[in-house]
Amino acid sequence: MAFSRVALLICTVIGYFVIASAGNFYQDFDITWGDGRAKILNNGELLTLSLDKASGSGFQSKNEYLFGKIDMQLKLVPGNSAGTVTAYYLSSKGATWDEIDFEFLGNLSGEPYILHTNVFSQGKGNREQQFYLWFDPTADFHTYSILWNPQRIVFSVDGSPIREFKNMESKGVPFPKNQAMRIYSSLWNADDWATRGGLVKTDWTQAPFTASYRNFNANACTVSSGTSSCGSNNPSSSNNAWLSEELDSTNQERLKWLQKNYMIYNYCSDTQRFPQGLPPECNTA
Ligand SMILES: *[C@@H]1O[C@H](CO)[C@@H](O)[C@H](O)[C@H]1NC(C)=O
Repeated sequence: MAFSRVALLICTVIGYFVIASAGNFYQDFDITWGDGRAKILNNGELLTLSLDKASGSGFQSKNEYLFGKIDMQLKLVPGNSAGTVTAYYLSSKGATWDEIDFEFLGNLSGEPYILHTNVFSQGKGNREQQFYLWFDPTADFHTYSILWNPQRIVFSVDGSPIREFKNMESKGVPFPKNQAMRIYSSLWNADDWATRGGLVKTDWTQAPFTASYRNFNANACTVSSGTSSCGSNNPSSSNNAWLSEELDSTNQERLKWLQKNYMIYNYCSDTQRFPQGLPPECNTA
């Protein structure tokens, strides 16, 4: 009797850790809209969003984060996804919000998705960089990561950095570092602008459109009632190495190479858009 109770307890504890380390959508997220179009499946291991003519759908994290290294695997809408947008981002609230965005702009079958990124600090964005991917993002799950620490924001795809936004407060550029953010994701119709600038419309005969999520993992500081789980005195203890992580020389080279080969738009090269001069963070000399 005593033995089986101990065995049961051990199994329960082991089971708990396995589930916790695999990430669990029931535990970490709330479905926020879509009237049944968003679903958590397989005991919390899988989440799907869907979009049809009547509505899209979305979810958000239960936690608010102030800095983190956050991974999510996504498999995007396959086939003719033109007009659809899958947004996956961090955002705070209020008029002077901060935001870190991944947006996936769908396309006709066989034509490339665009991965659109942006960074807002204190309500100001206009910092778009866009990329093609080096794989078909609808054939399988791929990992999209955000490293956000006080010095930098790094966007990565399957572990390879594609964009770095450095803290350049020294040049007068506000950096997101005081407002906690939640994770949000949604699948919606944006055929007024998403595909070839709005020329290609959503083909509703292909609906419902579905995007899938799995293996959420966050090494992050969560904030509740104004208090960070990381404390304020000891930010760089060993399990929080990400809090001071930077790109080593190998990753800097990779970033350069990926930008050279896959970046299709960079606001920092768009002199037409900024006739008064490029934003100060673009001047990295
Ligand atoms: C869709 O495909 C066209 C043609 O290949 C390409 O110009 C465009 O960048 C692609 N992506 C989007 C989202 O429009």
